[in-house]
Amino acid sequence: MDKIYIILLVLAAVILLGIVWCLTEAFILDHDRASLKRSPGGPSSDKEVTVKKLKGRMNAPSDGPADLRFFFFSDLHAELCPITVKRLCNAIKKSHDAGAIDAVIFGGDITTYPRNSKMGFKYLSQVSSFCKELGIPFYGVSGNHDYYYNNAPEECGFISLDAIEVALTSHISGRKIILTGLSDSGKKNRVWHTETAVQENDPVILIVHDPDAFIHLEPQYRPDFMLSGHLHGGQMKLPFRMEFLVLRKSDQLPRMGAVQGVYDLSGTSVFISRGLGCGILPFRFLSLPEATVVEIKL
Ligand SMILES: [Fe+2]
Repeated sequence: MDKIYIILLVLAAVILLGIVWCLTEAFILDHDRASLKRSPGGPSSDKEVTVKKLKGRMNAPSDGPADLRFFFFSDLHAELCPITVKRLCNAIKKSHDAGAIDAVIFGGDITTYPRNSKMGFKYLSQVSSFCKELGIPFYGVSGNHDYYYNNAPEECGFISLDAIEVALTSHISGRKIILTGLSDSGKKNRVWHTETAVQENDPVILIVHDPDAFIHLEPQYRPDFMLSGHLHGGQMKLPFRMEFLVLRKSDQLPRMGAVQGVYDLSGTSVFISRGLGCGILPFRFLSLPEATVVEIKL
């Protein structure tokens, strides 16, 4: 009998510690760096999508100046985001001081529920004011939780990339690079885009909330680079990635091996962020909140 009590006590202690850790992890901001190099062969024209994890591209020692540097964060989910706007702005400042940031980019999902819109708008408008102080443009795209909002860019103070393209210039070669985005229709009545602003002559960086969007693009519209979020790194990392097999069955790329970090998807260099806040539950496990300096190299 005593043994059973001891086992139950140990079990209860482990569960309690696990809960405390899951709550704590959501407060720990991983301010990291991703290095994206243009694939030598460029995007593939094959219909089939191939996935290759590119190791050593996170926090790698610098190998020279980048063509462009972005500060990228996604999945704010403001009602369950313990990372304060002050901490995020400090990370932006620190990144900018270490080497000029060309743009701050938000990857979508302002809040989980529309009733909390003001909270999300306030957070992002403070980020916008801070970017203005530093003279950095602030761009954003819509996430699957943002389809309720038709005024988000105005309320949050970012330039929406959902329907426009912006020409940027490489610091190294002076070459034109196109920055563009795709809107997210939300999951309920999902519509996938098949085209992007890909042009024949200029490299294209695509910002899209859900990385599964890549699977639906016609091969000729595949960009050279893509930045995404949405997957939260699984948020609660379970053995054998059960969180995607059981809880998030509709996400295709995790089943193909792409969850977080840097990948080559059919010749496109891709970064998938773990995001900043928490969706639905205020927990994270082995999936730290993330804000990333993304270095683009042609
Ligand atoms: Fe999200």
